[in-house]
Amino acid sequence: MCGIVGAIAQRNIVPILIEGLSRLEYRGYDSAGIAVLNQQIERVRAVGRVAELERKAQGLSSFIGIGHTRWATHGGVTEQNAHPHVSPTQDNPQIAVVHNGIIENHDEQRDRLTALGYAFHSQTDTEVIAHLVHYYYQQTRDLLQAVKLTISELTGAYAISVIALENPTQMVVARLGCPLLIGLGDGENFVASDVSAVLSATRRVIYLEDGDVASLTSAGVVIYDKTLQVVERKEHLSDVSLASLELGPYNHFMQKEIHEQPRAISDTIEALIDDGAFRTELFGVEAADIFSQIDSVLILAAGTSYYAGLTAKYWLESIARIPTSVEIASEYRYRESVPNPKQLIVTISQSGETLDTMEALKHAQKLGHTHSLAICNVQESAIPRASSLVFYTRAGAEIGVASTKAFTTQLIALFVLAVTLAKERGLLSPAQELAYLSDLRQVTGSVQIALNLEPQIREWAKQFGDKEHALFLGRGVHFPIAMEGALKLKEISYIHAEAYPAGELKHGPLALVDSNMPVVVIAPNDVLLEKVKSNMQEVKARGGQLFVFADADSHFNASEGVHVIRTPRHVGVLSPILHVIPVQLLAYHAALLKGTDVDKPRNLAKSVTVE
Ligand code: F6R
Repeated sequence: MCGIVGAIAQRNIVPILIEGLSRLEYRGYDSAGIAVLNQQIERVRAVGRVAELERKAQGLSSFIGIGHTRWATHGGVTEQNAHPHVSPTQDNPQIAVVHNGIIENHDEQRDRLTALGYAFHSQTDTEVIAHLVHYYYQQTRDLLQAVKLTISELTGAYAISVIALENPTQMVVARLGCPLLIGLGDGENFVASDVSAVLSATRRVIYLEDGDVASLTSAGVVIYDKTLQVVERKEHLSDVSLASLELGPYNHFMQKEIHEQPRAISDTIEALIDDGAFRTELFGVEAADIFSQIDSVLILAAGTSYYAGLTAKYWLESIARIPTSVEIASEYRYRESVPNPKQLIVTISQSGETLDTMEALKHAQKLGHTHSLAICNVQESAIPRASSLVFYTRAGAEIGVASTKAFTTQLIALFVLAVTLAKERGLLSPAQELAYLSDLRQVTGSVQIALNLEPQIREWAKQFGDKEHALFLGRGVHFPIAMEGALKLKEISYIHAEAYPAGELKHGPLALVDSNMPVVVIAPNDVLLEKVKSNMQEVKARGGQLFVFADADSHFNASEGVHVIRTPRHVGVLSPILHVIPVQLLAYHAALLKGTDVDKPRNLAKSVTVE
């Protein structure tokens, strides 16, 4: 969703802003803009791609400026609504602001500012921030004070960056509920909502905390906490690689990220394999203490991360024998649930900033849950920072909107959690621990072998390209994989797809089956295989076309109306990790045939930071 970048330096920062904005494109946006300071505030905005903004900004140059990619919430996709917003007037801008988040009391502020004589030129909530800063700047002649007074009047969530015509050597930034970081350079400083936007200039970053306000010059940064006291925040060296932000030889980030899964998995399990044991400390220094107190697990997540949670329920209950519930974050936060302080709240989030998941965690904490674990792919993001324990997956930056390598590494983390809890609870024999370690060691190779099935899957995809609907079936631990397959197909190819536990077919969805309805079945050799085979007969008898992903031990043969792709290995308990690979590839190739924008599917954003 929306992205911020800003720079203050002793060189022309316009190329830095443009490059930063193009690094933020993956988050999803519909318009972009920059504002820079010279003798006046110069602003350029464009609907559509950053490339269009770059074209319009040719010839612009400055030592200080702010930029933004906007994903419309308040007001349509128009140039007027694109950021930066300015005050007091469009013709004579003295203040420019970019903003991520939502100002909840913007109607009230709009009325007040209108009464004070300010005119509004957009439908956004952000314009009230520009006018408020101008209003207070008039009174204080101090940009930092003006921003502090402004945010004291805002309710909602924000990350903002502000420049003022009278202060060509200062930028003021603030955050509450939306991520914002400062990039530290040599004689230059930067601000961004996402580290990728500043990486080409610096790796040294400070993550601002909620309530922080900071004043940046090219020479230094001063940060104030929510009590407005000067505060020191830790400097980090980002390990996000520039290569992970480039396409390399691939056509799409989704394709690249599908193929990166063996590497992502082996990076995620590296510490575990080095130790040769499942160590509780992998989840944090307090993990042993917390794990000894809990009696159940509640997983909260959204979308693909929720399906990782559904898969984990099977592992947590069968391996660690710990009762586990999994809930969609946006539902949990508004439900009257019965809190259990002995329950471990596990949030799963690739980005670590999904608003629904963050708010669900806060809701659980308000209800008295004190034990929380975040499984997350982005260092220092909001959700891990609000949790007592954290396990970082090491998938590397995920740019494609459709999550792939984040999902498989989440599954790895959750499997490690299940085995570690089993060990803590005295349920794991040394022989079993070694067996699970060996399973984990082998999964990387098995995933690579599954990736080699791509040519066959590409052929299958041809039979989906002209379809409007598809059904995905699975049973047990593979039902969430069927759900993930259906989600992948619908979000990037726009083919309507639904997943059912195969045993449910006869209770309704079988009515949909005919020769125009491809039915994808996840059918590895497990205790439910014979049941799945009978469910498949129900489809076959009605003329349905079956596309079966089996494994080495499933003993399926292709026949009229039954297409079979077999992964050459059976990987036992880790089988969901193997079987998600072919459904990712199927969705990718079906989307290519449909000609959709694979990495940026319509209406979707990478990080969903609004409700
Ligand atoms: C689907 C997808 C989304 C995300 C969901 C949660 O491919 O990527 O469903 O899984 O928006 O995002 P995170 O994991 O960042 O909390």
